[in-house]
Amino acid sequence: MREILLNPGPVNLSDRVRTALLKPDLCHRELEFSVMQRAIREKLLRVYSLNEEDWAAVLMTGSGTSAMEAMLCSCIPVNGKVLVIENGVYGERLSRIAAIHRIDYATLHHEWGAPILSDTLEQRLAGDPGFTHVAVVHHETTSGRLNDLAGIAGICRQRRLSLLVDSVSSFGAEELRFDAWGISASAATANKCLHSTPGISFVIVKREELRKAAGVQRTLYLDLPIYLAEQDRGGTPFTQSVQGFYALDEALSEHAESGGWGKRSADYWKKMDLVREGFARLGINALLPRKDCSCVLNSFHLPAGLDYATLHDGLKQQGFVIYAGQGDFSKTLFRISVMGNNSMEDMQRFLNAMQSLL
Ligand SMILES: Cc1ncc(COP(=O)(O)O)c(C=O)c1O
Repeated sequence: MREILLNPGPVNLSDRVRTALLKPDLCHRELEFSVMQRAIREKLLRVYSLNEEDWAAVLMTGSGTSAMEAMLCSCIPVNGKVLVIENGVYGERLSRIAAIHRIDYATLHHEWGAPILSDTLEQRLAGDPGFTHVAVVHHETTSGRLNDLAGIAGICRQRRLSLLVDSVSSFGAEELRFDAWGISASAATANKCLHSTPGISFVIVKREELRKAAGVQRTLYLDLPIYLAEQDRGGTPFTQSVQGFYALDEALSEHAESGGWGKRSADYWKKMDLVREGFARLGINALLPRKDCSCVLNSFHLPAGLDYATLHDGLKQQGFVIYAGQGDFSKTLFRISVMGNNSMEDMQRFLNAMQSLL
């Protein structure tokens, strides 16, 4: 039985991407690798129509967290200070990264799932003229809330602050207006909205932003300038996951040919609306109103009298993998992601399985 993954990555692969994993063995120091790496970097920039003079896609072998860590470590100069906006696990992870690397930072903390209000952000920034950067998660996967990145970016632009974005669970399926909003860097991964395999992550970074932070080196393996210099020359500083590159290259072609991020967003919404409406009929309520949610993942209240383990195991027996809430959320919530190569029919079968379980 083909298991349908409704967890937020890794995702179900298309046959096209899976087949790419079987391409010939390849040394990462050979020309063929260099050509593929170049193609991937170009395709990543094309997802949001970015030009190569001002922007770079920096590829690394590691999960989404490695890209978050690389971004923070490499973009904030020694005398810089970052305000980390938290409203979930991943915002809090950004703060942990800053603390571990002794980056000067402060947090603007919100409860998990709470909205980030512009007045609160403005006040916090006004209270400390030392800030040079703001870091925030675009889609906070803890709750499914899509943070108002355009609004946050507007405030940063007014104050000439660099904006660092964790777009790990939004890149490829949500709007990201890098130039217009003034995003400085964005960390993301292959195995979520781009529908590739886990193991490759990347940072889309404004080249100027790295130049401004030149000289800071907080890490070897996650230092973006080291990768950038090598990758611009066609090389790689460290061994990359060659098979992961094969898959990502194919997944990016598939993404572009199927209509890019806008089409992917529309496809996700169709599936998510089916789930939200089907759940509502079954008496299962969403945590957040639709307008506050990403198209990628939504959180739902556990049905009365059913704990997560029972729900998970019952659905898994029928071929569907759902996802628990994090931390305290696990007692009351579960999450459904619609990423991956799944159809409306798969989602309808999922709703039938849910109904039969209830
Ligand atoms: C918004 C966000 N940031 C970061 C991560 C961490 O990614 P990884 O588990 O690939 O390190 C995740 C994972 O789900 C995420 O959703």
